[in-house]
Formats: sequence, C-alpha cells, structure tokens
Amino acid sequence: MTGFQRAATVLACDEVPLDRIAAAEGTPLYVYSAATIAARYRAIDEAFAGCPHAIHYALKANSTLAIARLLRALGSFADVNSGGEIEVAMRAGFTPAQIVFTGVGKTPAELAHAIAFGVRSINVESPGEIDRIDALSRQCRARTKIAIRVNPDVDAKTHPHISTGLKTNKFGIPIAEVPDICRRAQAMDGVRIVGLHAHIGSQITDLAPLERAARALVALARDLRDSGSAIEHLDIGGGLGVSYDGKPVPDAADYARTVLPVLRESGLSIVLEPGRHILAPAGALLTRVVDVKEADAGRWFVVMDAGMTELIRPMLYNAFHRIEPVVKTDAPLVSTDVVGPLCESSDTLGKDRMLPKPEPGELYAVLDAGAYGSVMASNYNRRMLPAEVLVEDNAWRVIRRRQTLDDVLALES
Ligand SMILES: Cc1ncc(COP(=O)(O)O)c(C=O)c1O
Repeated sequence: MTGFQRAATVLACDEVPLDRIAAAEGTPLYVYSAATIAARYRAIDEAFAGCPHAIHYALKANSTLAIARLLRALGSFADVNSGGEIEVAMRAGFTPAQIVFTGVGKTPAELAHAIAFGVRSINVESPGEIDRIDALSRQCRARTKIAIRVNPDVDAKTHPHISTGLKTNKFGIPIAEVPDICRRAQAMDGVRIVGLHAHIGSQITDLAPLERAARALVALARDLRDSGSAIEHLDIGGGLGVSYDGKPVPDAADYARTVLPVLRESGLSIVLEPGRHILAPAGALLTRVVDVKEADAGRWFVVMDAGMTELIRPMLYNAFHRIEPVVKTDAPLVSTDVVGPLCESSDTLGKDRMLPKPEPGELYAVLDAGAYGSVMASNYNRRMLPAEVLVEDNAWRVIRRRQTLDDVLALES
C-alpha cells in the first residue's frame, strides 16, 4: 500500500505508521510519500506518451531539494519561477536545457542569470520583457530562446486567487497582440521564439477550459507558422487539480484524452508544467492537539500546534483539507473548528468538522498538503519552519531539519 492509508487503526505513509514518525521527529511535520510522487509523475508521463512531450515539474509547488532531486531522478525536467528556484533546480541536478523559466516579474539580475545559463526557454510575459531579454542577450552575444506566455482570456473555473488566464489577470500577453509582438521579436538578434505558453490557473477540475486554452495555442501556432515563425513547442502549463475532499476529479489520463487530440493537430512537441497534481496527495502535515475548549454548546475549538504559518491554503484560498486523527479513537463525534495557535482569527485549518472528541497531545494529519504547503510556510509570530521527512522504501529520512531560532536570528543584527 502506498500513500496515506489506514492500516487497522493507525494512519500510515507507505506503510510506515505516522505516529512513529511524529514521535521521533516532532510536530508540526511534513511527511511525503516517494512512491506516490513517482506514481503520479509516471501517470502523467504515460498519459502523454502518444505525443513528443517533456514534463517540467513546477518547483513552486514544492521545491525542497530532495523532492526536486526525486523528480529529476524520475526523468522530470523543471519549471522555475525565480532566481532562487533556478539555483535550487541546478543544485538538484537539472541542466539548464531542462529548465523553463516563467514568472510575471523577472528582475534584470534573474534574466541575466537565466541567459548566462542558457535555459531551455524563458517564458516571456510582456513586450517590455522581450526587449530586456534582447538587450541583455546581445550584451553577452547570446541568442536566448523564448516562449511567449499567451493570455487566452479563458476562465479556468477555479478559485479567483489561482486563476491566471483571464484578461483581467496580470499574466501573459493578450492573445490578439501576440502576432504583432512575434513579428517585432523576429527582427531581434538577441531572442529566438521557440514556443507558445499558456497557464490558465491551478486546481482545475473542469477540463473544458484546459481544452479551450490548448485550442487557442494551436490556432495561434498555425497563424504564426503561416507568417514564418519557427515555433517548436507548445507549453500547456500546469493546473490539473486533485481531489481534496475525496470526490472524483479528472486524472492525468482524462486530461490527456481531452487535450491531446487538439495538440496533435499542431505537430509540435508539448511541454507540461504540473505541480499540484504530482505533489498534493503525496504529502501530509502532522500536527498535535495543544488545547480543546468549548466554543458554544456542543461545539469545540481544537487548537493545534500547526496553523497558517505551516499551511496557509485554507486561509488564503478558503481551501478544504481532510483532517483526520492519526490513531482512531472511540470518542464520540463532536463538531469542531480546527484552529492554529496564531494571533489571527483567520488561523483556521478546518471549520465545522465532525471529529472524535480530541484530547490534548493527540496526533492529527492534514491530508493532501504536499503542494503549496511547506513552500508557503512563514516565520510569523516567530514560529520556526517545520521539518520535512520523505518516506521511501519503508523508512523515512529528514529532508529538511526543523528551523531553529538561531537560524532565523542569524540574519539580524
Ligand atoms: C506558470 C505556471 N506553471 C505551472 C504552475 C503549476 O501549476 P499547478 O501546481 O496547478 O500544476 C503554475 C502555478 O500556478 C504556474 O504559475
């Protein structure tokens, strides 16, 4: 059994009981299943096998070095979103030719870095950015490969905070302006347009918008080819969602069945940038009950040792995560708000949950927390970043030690 499964009464990760891991490493603690990461990566790779493709795992979902290295060992390439992520990708062993660099506000220093390394493609967000890449590339006599990030004005039907493909969103170049911008860029010595890119949002569980975005890219590539551009690849971004509540959602095979017939018409190779779909179900946040107190008749607050500093998704996106006791008890079910220890009323991991009446010290797992969890953790209230462990071959190892106050204060005078 791989992933997070209950063996008898105890929740385990790849058959290693989570209470054993928490007893040894403390809480709050992120636990990841290497087998789940591998299975979910391979499912995407197999689903797109009918078309030349490259999976560039989106490091923004989880960029802990060991996770990046695991993805690289599986054959993945990388999608990075900052100079820091370029550096992490290189230290994880990705070569520049395996990296695409996306990001809405790349600084001159970040661009210069990416140009000097010679990444596979910089996904450009504006005409101004093309000018900056051209100028920087000419200074070092380079010709930098770019892909135009297209804003196709497609509603991804996801939470507005993670919707990126509407013309009201800050991302990409409006699709109608792309042909003119490409004509201008073709005359530049410092850039070569090799691709078109669209990423319309994250946690997408309705495949129709992804199909519409793919259609828009294919039509645009056809127009550009007719006017002499040598586009080599279509980058369809990430975005495929996961089930946070246990209800069925489309999987990688459904996704491929929807977009591949459209993409194949282009005759171009495909770049994918999945993050959440690979990592989310592969991680859980372990947290212990600190206090239990009655809110009003029959309703309880369960105060955990993890909150928005460890997992901000419920506060940021109103995101739902399943929260389960690691060791099942026979206590009667009670209505609870599962809250964190921070001085913020929004510091709530889950509202109105029916849980066996919790007791201080009990261990809980917040499931499907592998993506956009630890990467978004903060030191608010002077809380230390949690440790992370990877379970592999029936054993676990610490892949990020718990931060100490000395680590934090080392930056201060
Ligand atoms: C450009 C780009 N590519 C890929 C991703 C990864 O998306 P997801 O984790 O939904 O697959 C994101 C995340 O928002 C992104 O902005």
